[in-house]
Amino acid sequence: MDVQTARRLVAGASRIVGFTGAGISTESGVPDFRSPNGVWARNRIVDFQEFVSSEAGRVEYWRQKVAAWPAMRDAEPNAGHHAFVELHRQGRLSALVTQNIDRLHQRSGLPAEAVLELHGATTEAVCLSCGDTIEFDEACRRVEDGEEAPRCRQCGGLLKPATVSFGQAMPADVMLRAEAAARTCDLLLAVGSSLVVEPAASIPRIARQAGAVLIIVNRDPTPLDGIAGAAVHGEIRDVLPGLVTRGD
Ligand code: APR
Repeated sequence: MDVQTARRLVAGASRIVGFTGAGISTESGVPDFRSPNGVWARNRIVDFQEFVSSEAGRVEYWRQKVAAWPAMRDAEPNAGHHAFVELHRQGRLSALVTQNIDRLHQRSGLPAEAVLELHGATTEAVCLSCGDTIEFDEACRRVEDGEEAPRCRQCGGLLKPATVSFGQAMPADVMLRAEAAARTCDLLLAVGSSLVVEPAASIPRIARQAGAVLIIVNRDPTPLDGIAGAAVHGEIRDVLPGLVTRGD
């Protein structure tokens, strides 16, 4: 029932905002966070406060990031990412808001300006004092060579991956653009997110409150299923491509 409803609602929309979470990248070999075998089942969270105040916290944070990097670096986009490229090809994708840090939406062919990264991206490390950046690959090499919590070589400040940690400010300009897109779309398609982390999860709610239809595609139920026009629980690869193709 919900798949047919979702298909009909997506077919009738012309200004669609995509909203994705880590679940859209698991088919590409990048683990999500809250599934039974997800990142938080195997790692403790190091929040921003601990990162800036504790050397041991920084060492643990970098250990986790370096361990996760090869799968992310070598991942290829999958059918879920390509479904959003198809919506863009049809001229119906007004923005793709993602919580993901893997750049797979850009690698799948979406133009960079169409992708709003709420939590940054694992492409470089940035100095929290002077803003100098180095390639993430170089930062990983330095960690593997024994510099367990790398420092900025310009000013000695703390180097941190350019992703947003719990307790760290979100990129305000990106959030504003995401909120504006949510307010002006006619449908928000939320895919592969547990929709439990704020303020990211406010984006689908803003769209719904502005009168858009909310469609959710996710293996597990989410807290926003009750306000969705359709909540389809299944594998993204089995559901999403069929929702975006035009025709019968
Ligand atoms: N098909 C369908 N759903 C899937 C698939 C799949 N192949 N793989 C995973 N999922 C679903 C899971 O059921 C889960 O509900 O994707 C969801 C992923 O949820 P999370 O792991 O919580 O990821 P996300 O919602 O992106 O987390 C938000 O939390 O830890 C922070 O910063 C991190 O951006 C992340 C944020």
